[in-house]
Order: sequence, then C-alpha cells, then structure tokens
Amino acid sequence: MLDIKNLKTIFKVGKETVTAVDDVSFSVEKGKVIGLVGESGSGKTVTAMSILNLLPDNAKIESGEILFNGEDLLKKSNKELQLIRGRDVGLIFQNPLAALNPVFTVGEQIQETILLHRGISKKEAKEEAISLLKKVNIPDPEVRYDNYPHEFSLGMCQRAMIAMTLSMKPKLLIADEPTASLDVTVQAQILELLGELTEEYGMSVLMISHDLGVIAQYCDEVMVMYLGSLVEKGSAVDIFKDPKHPYTQALLSSIPIPDPSKKHKPTILQGDIPSPLHIPSGCRFHPRCPQVKPECSKVSLSLKRVDNSEVACVIYK
Ligand SMILES: Nc1ncnc2c1ncn2[C@@H]1O[C@H](COP(=O)(O)OP(=O)(O)OP(=O)(O)O)[C@@H](O)[C@H]1O
Ligand SMILES: [Mg+2]
Repeated sequence: MLDIKNLKTIFKVGKETVTAVDDVSFSVEKGKVIGLVGESGSGKTVTAMSILNLLPDNAKIESGEILFNGEDLLKKSNKELQLIRGRDVGLIFQNPLAALNPVFTVGEQIQETILLHRGISKKEAKEEAISLLKKVNIPDPEVRYDNYPHEFSLGMCQRAMIAMTLSMKPKLLIADEPTASLDVTVQAQILELLGELTEEYGMSVLMISHDLGVIAQYCDEVMVMYLGSLVEKGSAVDIFKDPKHPYTQALLSSIPIPDPSKKHKPTILQGDIPSPLHIPSGCRFHPRCPQVKPECSKVSLSLKRVDNSEVACVIYK
C-alpha cells in the first residue's frame, strides 16, 4: 500500500543544511498497523509530513521514492496530493484543537467533510456525522453535534477528529502522537478506540509516538528511529521480547514495569540526542551507546536481517 524507499528530507537553516530524515525505507501493508518510535527530534514527524508533502517551505525531499498503491507521490502536484489527502490518506495530529475550526460547530465540520467527499444530501451527511460521533463514543451525539470545539474536552476533540477522519474512509491513517496531549486514562481509551476502528475499517496505519508503551499497545510492527535513520525494524512481539539494537534496548528499559517484584534497572542514556547539524560519524548512536566499540565511529551500517528483525549495529556484523 505505502512503500517508502531511501527517503532523504533536508532543511535549509540559514546557510546550513540539516538532514532530518536520511535514507529511510519501509512499507505499510494493507490492514497493518506500523509504529514509528524515537526520541524527540529523531525525524518522525518529518517522515510523516514527507509522505504527503506537508513540509514547511524550508524543507525539501532530496531523494527517494514514496509509492502509494504503486503511484509515486513525489511526482504528484499539490492539487493531486490534496485530493489523495482528502480521499485516501487520513491524518490525525497531536493537538486536535488546532485542527478544528473554532468558528464552526464540531458537527458542521464533520458534515462538511462528508459533503466534500461524498455525493449525499446535507440531511444524510448530518445523520452520518451524528452516527460517527456516536461511533467514537461521544455521549449525546445529537446535542454535541451543535457544540463548538471549545465546549469539548481535549479527549473529545480528538474523538471528533477521529470521526472526521473516518468519514472519508481512508485507506491509510497517519497518526502523529495522537494521544500525546491527553492524560493517561484518556490516552488508553483513544488508543483502544483507534484499535477497534482500524480493524473495523480495515485501514492501514502509520502510528507515530515517542512512547514505546503506546506503540506496544497498538502496533503489529515497530520501527525505531534515531537521529533521522532507522536503527531497528521488526514485529512488535520481537522488538519487545528481544530488542537487538542498544538504542531499542535503552528505550525499552525506560518503560516502567508495574510489578515491583521484578528487578528493573533502566539503561539511562547519557546526554541528549545530538543536533542534526552535527551528526556523529559512523553509527549516529555511538556517542551515547552503552555498548560502543572502537569501530562504531568509523562504520555506518544499514539495516541487516538478524533473526526475524532488521538491525543496524556492528554487534551483529
Ligand atoms: N521547520 C524546521 N526547520 C528546520 N529544521 C527542522 C524543522 N522541523 C524539523 N526540523 C529538523 O528535523 C528534525 C526532526 O524533527 P521532527 O519534528 O521530525 O522530530 P520528531 O521525531 O517528530 O520529534 P517529536 O517527538 O518532538 O515530535 C529536528 O530535530 C530538526 O532538526
Ligand atoms: Mg513529531
């Protein structure tokens, strides 16, 4: 469904060029939920925004291919991409309030989206909007239809955004930190809802989060990103049972374990993620890697199959 090959996205910042995404390749197959995880600044959002060319003006896709159902999205005009965005690919972001228009009621906005994409009457579109609000578990949907976004809680706004996105019946859903602005119980509810709806609608999903716990709950496959490149890729089961890259291991060990009888010594990563202006030589993770070897600053590796996963690390050379 979605095939990304050797994607490289750069930013011009003053005279400098920042490579935010470097040689990233992955596929999202039909009906599959793929998670992209990594620390803040690792390039997750830039990867997602590259897909539909929603990048800021100072960004450019330098090379690579983005195939959606066999069509190269990089060869499409903005108008064509807009059509794909409305019809085939749904987007959900971290801040649902920013995505909703404050001057229209939530119901009107969902109805409008339905009218834009489907040839049905206003009355039918309203009925469908109400049934979608119900589907995303908004209580009293007939009443809530007439509420403005500021009358909704943040969690309800995100439910409304999900309803709006579902109204297009997208084939692919890109969800960038969809629960990051919500408190933990609401997060769990929204993830559960997304999980149910993904299955019901048979959607493929690219789920982005810096939280491996969120990814664990929701995804079939996991990709781990560090400083613009993928360091590990595998099934969620393999990544959680047997993380191979030291960075994945560190991310995983930072998830709290609720059972106090279990010994748990998190690996604390030293320092922050380096600036993409100063990408370390060799393996980008080597200055912070607890298992660093002398050759790590010299050789840079691409993903190689190790058991059932793919890993970029000299340990497995
Ligand atoms: N508008 C911009 N101008 C210049 N550089 C940018 C811009 N947006 C992103 N970048 C660069 O791209 C890198 C990756 O940013 P990105 O937003 O994709 O990170 P992320 O993984 O989504 O982080 P977070 O978890 O905080 O959302 C940043 O570290 C920054 O160097
Ligand atoms: Mg982001």
